[in-house]
Amino acid sequence: MMPSLYVVTIDGPAGAGKSTIARLLARRIGANYLDTGALYRALAFYLDASGIAPANGKNVAEALGGLVVSLQGGRVFVDSSDVTDKIRTPHIDAIVSRYAELPLLRASLLELQRSQAAEGPLVADGRDMGTVVFPKADLKIFLSATAEERARRRWKELAERGERTSFEEVLSQVIRRDGIDSSRALAPLRQAEDAVVLDTTALSIEEVLSRLSSLVEERLKERLNRGGRDV
Ligand code: CDP
Repeated sequence: MMPSLYVVTIDGPAGAGKSTIARLLARRIGANYLDTGALYRALAFYLDASGIAPANGKNVAEALGGLVVSLQGGRVFVDSSDVTDKIRTPHIDAIVSRYAELPLLRASLLELQRSQAAEGPLVADGRDMGTVVFPKADLKIFLSATAEERARRRWKELAERGERTSFEEVLSQVIRRDGIDSSRALAPLRQAEDAVVLDTTALSIEEVLSRLSSLVEERLKERLNRGGRDV
């Protein structure tokens, strides 16, 4: 069997292309893909639909105690409901970060995220993959791009799905969400000290992908030269 890297992490701000790139990279290197944003979005969707605001700590805690978030075949479930198609909307974009900053909510998702690495090689994307969830990852990537470029990508993606919002609205939403994600006390968005930073503003998906595939290959060679995996 071909040797492989066990965990590759991809962190970065909203719209930097993490999920597109992570999914394609996983396919290219024969790894599983973990979209951690989907987990935060799923809980935000569920709590919001249940009328539980993020500021209502007691009700959030109570609700979380009785909920099971799970991943099955690339789809995300809260208890037995498949919420996958309901979580990538401008409404969830606008509310998710206020839920994601709650320590109890983050803690409730930690085990599920880490357990995915036991299933085989993994590419995981999010905000705190390289810093908190997989601090010993074999390769850590931090993807960035200017706020304008990220908003342009997100606007295009929303338009393709038939969501009608203005570019200005998307831009201010992206900037607002980055602000909350970067300034929260627990597991804020920031690059790990040992992350490779890639500014994707002027790069195509294929260019980013080929850059990352080379990095994976380099890491593999380093590992083979060292004679195995460091633990
Ligand atoms: O696709 P995009 O980058 O816009 O967002 P996402 O990855 O789906 O994440 C949605 C939100 O979930 C983020 O804005 C964060 O508030 C939260 N999140 C987090 O706190 N930690 C993660 N590891 C992943 C997402």
